[in-house]
Amino acid sequence: MPKLPAPPIPAPLKAPPPRPGEGNGKTAPHEHAKHAGINVVDWVDERTSLSGAARWMMFRKVPKGTNWFYTLGSATMFAFLSQAVTGVFLAMYYRPDPAGGAYESIRYVTNEVFLGQFVRGMHKWGSSVMVVLVFLHMGRTFFFGAYKYPRELNWVIGVVLLILTMVMSFTGYLLPFDQRAYWATIVGVNINGTGPLIGPYLSDFLRGGPEFGATTLSRFYAIHMLLVPGLLAALIGAHLYLVAKLGTTAPPWTGAEKNPELREAEA
Ligand code: HEM
Repeated sequence: MPKLPAPPIPAPLKAPPPRPGEGNGKTAPHEHAKHAGINVVDWVDERTSLSGAARWMMFRKVPKGTNWFYTLGSATMFAFLSQAVTGVFLAMYYRPDPAGGAYESIRYVTNEVFLGQFVRGMHKWGSSVMVVLVFLHMGRTFFFGAYKYPRELNWVIGVVLLILTMVMSFTGYLLPFDQRAYWATIVGVNINGTGPLIGPYLSDFLRGGPEFGATTLSRFYAIHMLLVPGLLAALIGAHLYLVAKLGTTAPPWTGAEKNPELREAEA
């Protein structure tokens, strides 16, 4: 049977021209390996054009006078990421069983698992770090007037992020299910119940009924591990999208918000 000619290779899929030193038959294999990472990134980018989005997000001009206070938002984000990573490792051992299983699983992580106490400590202290950072970041945006037009929506998203961060701390506190966690959560749920109008419904929802019991722990566990982390991740994405789209506010003492010509950009 006659051999059919091979179809032409589309231009974007053709091999790139050899780099200097390549293609003369003398290139050592490790020289090719040096370009492997670049070739993989090129391959993915050719099919997705993701580098455009990454460039749009990362290579932005920032206003004159930008200082260390502007790192508080990113610091909060890294605290969140650290909580997510350490939380996944804790979840590998945790059992939401109110009849002693939850307490025992936490005891096991702390005393028996390699680096368990360290990871649990990071998660426990990290939650306080995140709460402190979120307040400092909110203070920065408030005192720099970053809540004003056109960034009001980002402030509102920020308020929701603040509430969700507090919900994470509150729901996480019950999970070890020791005496302190149990009674502190009863106090917290009762405080919620004193709120106007929705208070009693909220405390019923949190308890999973009129009594504090087995359902309460499953409910707190689901809120802490699934619901709120998902919402936080999505809203942080929206928050960062708006930061990249609108740019950050210049410090108030530069006077740049009133005189846009002073908002001379620096790379
Ligand atoms: C999980 C919590 C949060 C994360 C991860 C986060 C992250 C960030 C990041 C990375 C930035 C850009 C850099 C910076 O200005 O620091 C930013 C900006 C901003 N954030 Fe947040 N944020 C959080 C919570 C909040 C809260 C609680 C508020 C206020 C209620 C808020 C309001 C704003 C505003 C208004 C901007 C724009 C700042 C400007 O234009 O100068 N954020 N956020």
